[in-house]
Amino acid sequence: MRFVPFIALAAPALAQYNAKPWPSPTPNKPEGGGPKKLVSAKELIKAIKLDDLLAGSQQLQTFADENGGNRAFGSGGHNATTEWLYQTLKKTGYYDVYKQPFVELFTAATISLTVAGEVVPAEYLTYGPSGQVTASVAKVNNLGCDASDFPADVTGQIALISRGTCTFAIKTTNAKAAGAAGAIIYNNVPLQNLSGTLGGEGDYAPVVGLTQEAGNSLLAKLGNGTVEATLSVNAIRENRTNYNVIAESKQGDHNNVLMLGGHTDSVFAGPGINDDGSGTIGTLVTALALTKFKLKNAVRLGFWGAEEFGKLGSFYYLKSINGTLGGNSTEVSKLRAYLNFDMIASPNYVLGIYDGDGSAFNFSGPTGSDTIEKDFELFYETRGLPHVPALFSLRSDYAAFLENGIPSGGLFTGAEVLKTEQEALLFGGEAGQPLDACYHQKCDTIDNLAHDAYLLNTQSIANSVAKYAVSWEGIPRGNGTVRKRSAEMSLLMGRVDGGGHEHHAQPCGAGKNEM
Ligand SMILES: *[C@@H]1O[C@H](CO)[C@@H](O)[C@H](O)[C@H]1NC(C)=O
Ligand SMILES: *[C@@H]1O[C@H](CO)[C@@H](O)[C@H](O)[C@H]1NC(C)=O
Ligand SMILES: *[C@@H]1O[C@H](CO)[C@@H](O)[C@H](O)[C@H]1NC(C)=O
Ligand SMILES: *[C@@H]1O[C@H](CO)[C@@H](O)[C@H](O)[C@H]1NC(C)=O
Ligand SMILES: *[C@@H]1O[C@H](CO)[C@@H](O)[C@H](O)[C@H]1NC(C)=O
Ligand SMILES: *[C@@H]1O[C@H](CO)[C@@H](O)[C@H](O)[C@H]1NC(C)=O
Ligand SMILES: *[C@@H]1O[C@H](CO)[C@@H](O)[C@H](O)[C@H]1NC(C)=O
Ligand SMILES: *[C@@H]1O[C@H](CO)[C@@H](O)[C@H](O)[C@H]1NC(C)=O
Ligand SMILES: [Zn+2]
Repeated sequence: MRFVPFIALAAPALAQYNAKPWPSPTPNKPEGGGPKKLVSAKELIKAIKLDDLLAGSQQLQTFADENGGNRAFGSGGHNATTEWLYQTLKKTGYYDVYKQPFVELFTAATISLTVAGEVVPAEYLTYGPSGQVTASVAKVNNLGCDASDFPADVTGQIALISRGTCTFAIKTTNAKAAGAAGAIIYNNVPLQNLSGTLGGEGDYAPVVGLTQEAGNSLLAKLGNGTVEATLSVNAIRENRTNYNVIAESKQGDHNNVLMLGGHTDSVFAGPGINDDGSGTIGTLVTALALTKFKLKNAVRLGFWGAEEFGKLGSFYYLKSINGTLGGNSTEVSKLRAYLNFDMIASPNYVLGIYDGDGSAFNFSGPTGSDTIEKDFELFYETRGLPHVPALFSLRSDYAAFLENGIPSGGLFTGAEVLKTEQEALLFGGEAGQPLDACYHQKCDTIDNLAHDAYLLNTQSIANSVAKYAVSWEGIPRGNGTVRKRSAEMSLLMGRVDGGGHEHHAQPCGAGKNEM
């Protein structure tokens, strides 16, 4: 089904910023005239319309189409997305809105890999350095997480390392320290490219990522003797200005704020209409519906930039309010809860809810996250619908909120992980196929959305937003305790890469940021 974009693009370059009012619901007008009523879940849910969701998604698709096919960090497509969100929200008169700029290092690269004279498709890892090397390939023992995994003769060679257990950055740093002239990391799950980010600058060997199949084929060749390879990475590096869009309802108690949001950037490979256009527009449609109502608690929206480079926007925002960048931390304690929506309309979806109480994965959010999870569960259960827990794997923007002790939760319909038989019984769709086969690819377009899940999950967002906009019962104020990252993080990384059923719960960042 196609919907007419609700922004007319007669004079594209300018008109795209001249946001017309949302077609329906008419923002900031109570239903049927008269004074506004206090928001209720029932009425807010009624104001969520599939046409509005799809019109918003089409707008993001248009921004990508007009800007080289993506909405990546610092790009024209991302600039247009953030400016449009800013203008659309500002026009309601209901929110105070600002764009928060931040500067981060951007990298992109053209790469190539040939093995024994044959070209092998490979992927760039963000923040990887430039380099050209022709050398023999050396197999690294275990997973390359430890210096002792690297054989002595790796010096000057190209180290071949399996994904798993530790970050890409650790493997690539170890390769450089061992004297390798280059590194290849291959996947540990079938039929998936290995791409992602090293998370920041470092002392790395030039590196590319391979599928598991290509990695295994290379290992088989090594079993026959020496294999020559040429690895080439041509990277550009530049500091780019990028934006978060932050909006807060003028109404409501500003010391007891509900925050919700998702990331606005796509990967470079595609337009990112499910990841995370769906969370962006789901949040926006809910926020526009809210303008017809009165609130007790203020509602703040966080549209994060540069998530795909390592959750940079959300971390920058938290640092800007917790005293790290100056000032003091009183602002953080005003945030009573954060709800994250990163991929809510995956085509082969599960209905995933972050495991706030830790009952499924033994990794809980701050106290209050349990109630947030329960409230989401109830939404589906009262409709007779199934749901599954999703691991807080720290690979989406909620990570910064968890670190700052803010009760958190959210929804996640799945990325590259394959649907299990059991999930297919629960949700329909195809077992053995990825939950989103277009995850981080060019085909994550307007045609990559499950419309039923998109509408349902946005209604679920509305349900929770209406509840917390009226009352914080069951959710104690976070006490500002910053959670220790290292211990929990490594525990979690052990679990995630340890395999098993929790795989379905890997969020959008899986395969990207850490391992
Ligand atoms: C995006 O916005 C930034 C900051 O305003 C600007 O420096 C940059 O040139 C813009 N990029 C494009 C491609 O328009
Ligand atoms: C890997 O990415 C390329 C584009 O870079 C794509 O053509 C190919 O289908 C992807 N392979 C898998 C297994 O996802
Ligand atoms: C290993 O060498 C044998 C004999 O030359 C050849 O038949 C076989 O295809 C080679 N295997 C690989 C994986 O290159
Ligand atoms: C980016 O900005 C940082 C901080 O100002 C600076 O140290 C660094 O050299 C810049 N990097 C590039 C590639 O311009
Ligand atoms: C913290 O900053 C706020 C303004 O953001 C100010 O009103 C308050 O007095 C400061 N508190 C302390 C303890 O410095
Ligand atoms: C749950 O995690 C904690 C550490 O956070 C650990 O001490 C405990 O043994 C774990 N329990 C189970 C059942 O895995
Ligand atoms: C803050 O809350 C955490 C649990 O969320 C608790 O472990 C810690 O003791 C609390 N700290 C204070 C100072 O109350
Ligand atoms: C502020 O937030 C950042 C990002 O989550 C975190 O790393 C840091 O520890 C926090 N600092 C303080 C003082 O709360
Ligand atoms: Zn995402």
